[in-house]
Amino acid sequence: MDMLVVQGGCTLRGHVFVDGAKNAALPIMAASILLDGDIRIKRVPDLVDVQTMSLLLQSLGAEVTRSGDTLDIDTRDVACQHADYELVRRMRASVCVLGPLLARFGRASVSLPGGCNIGHRPIDLHLKGLAALGADLRIERGYVIGEASQLRGADIFLGGPGGSTVTGTCNVMAAACLAKGHTVIRAAACEPEVADLGRFLNGAGARISGLGTSTIEITGVEGLTSVTHTVVPDRIEAATFAIAAAATRGNISIHDVCPEHMASVIEALEDIGATIHVAADQLDISATGSLRSIELAALPFPEIPTDTQAQFMALMATVPGISVVTDRVFPDRFMHASELVRMGAQIRREGASVVIDGGRRLTGTSVMASDLRASAALVIAALAADGESQIRRIYHLDRGYARLEQKLNGLGASVIRRADGSAQAKRPHYLQGDSARSKGSQSQRD
Ligand code: UD1
Repeated sequence: MDMLVVQGGCTLRGHVFVDGAKNAALPIMAASILLDGDIRIKRVPDLVDVQTMSLLLQSLGAEVTRSGDTLDIDTRDVACQHADYELVRRMRASVCVLGPLLARFGRASVSLPGGCNIGHRPIDLHLKGLAALGADLRIERGYVIGEASQLRGADIFLGGPGGSTVTGTCNVMAAACLAKGHTVIRAAACEPEVADLGRFLNGAGARISGLGTSTIEITGVEGLTSVTHTVVPDRIEAATFAIAAAATRGNISIHDVCPEHMASVIEALEDIGATIHVAADQLDISATGSLRSIELAALPFPEIPTDTQAQFMALMATVPGISVVTDRVFPDRFMHASELVRMGAQIRREGASVVIDGGRRLTGTSVMASDLRASAALVIAALAADGESQIRRIYHLDRGYARLEQKLNGLGASVIRRADGSAQAKRPHYLQGDSARSKGSQSQRD
């Protein structure tokens, strides 16, 4: 297993380009099961999670070929409707194949994704939505078994205690494309990645309206055909670079972004004291002046994404004053806090919030990544800290960031990937046999 060795105390400067959004690419790939034609998806990030989704589609009988950042997918010969635990447990988004399999074949058996390091993550809303479309669903031996002779359009309320569900909306919206009649999804997720899936499906002949709003309407069609689609920019990757620039009091330009997907993040960074210039597909951020503490809360889009909460926490640890960071989407997503404390941050947990007494000197040390965005937070803290840090278990990072160390080094950082020979460097359970599974090696499945 690899670790990242980060020399702290740098100031990020220069230009960086973001990839396509992981959280759009994954449900789009899953929904390709619905299509009967040539599928070309451009700007697909080269990530472990994308490789896992490719393996899952191949295990069902699809052909998936990558050429540069383009994926060609052919699902015409899909013959298997069984998504195995061995693949699904690696990545939660695998559950996005459930709706498409049911809609196309009338049956599916998909492993439940299981536990997760960022808190309890049920899929009851996915099941509720698909049942409302007429699927007969039961849980048996860790699998969701679904049957549906003909899905029928329905009026579905998909809200839950944590608000809307992103992949739940994707699953139900995709299935409804081939249902007979009209479907309305209320309390639908408004995230840009859900809208991007909708555009992909519409490009293949679906009739979806209301994308980007909390009411999505779908008129079922007989079939979906060929499509070429370009994935939206990764707003979480872009936000991670912007927050890293602020944490190092740097000055960077982030290219290939969609600024309107990042309004809440931009506003929070401006509230902290950064200066941001927004162009069509570019953000310039300068944080060379003095920064101030803030209170911020992660909520569903268009508010601050929970996937940036950890990175903001690392930033606020560098800013003098008391900051409060709350996560209303995943109220237990704070495993990174104790690693940040090991680097010298003063952080106290209070329910779904942490209180940060910022501006203490951070010092480099050996820290352990617990999930994907927590890993990014540790990298940010390490860039801002004095001395060297070793960030272990970075397989989490590789699930969601492509070439992160090259991109950071292009901005003037010193980040080296090295083999980690330490005792803590257990291989992730999904790269090992079952016997090697342990709590510490659970992957985060966002
Ligand atoms: C997606 C993203 C993940 C992001 C999250 C929230 C992908 C692949 N992953 O995950 O990066 O952190 O959105 O923006 O797109 N819930 C239920 N029942 C359900 C489903 C969800 O109660 O059936 C709750 C969850 O516990 C959570 C909230 O709803 O409190 C939001 O979760 P959800 O939007 O479903 O997250 P994911 O789609 O799994």
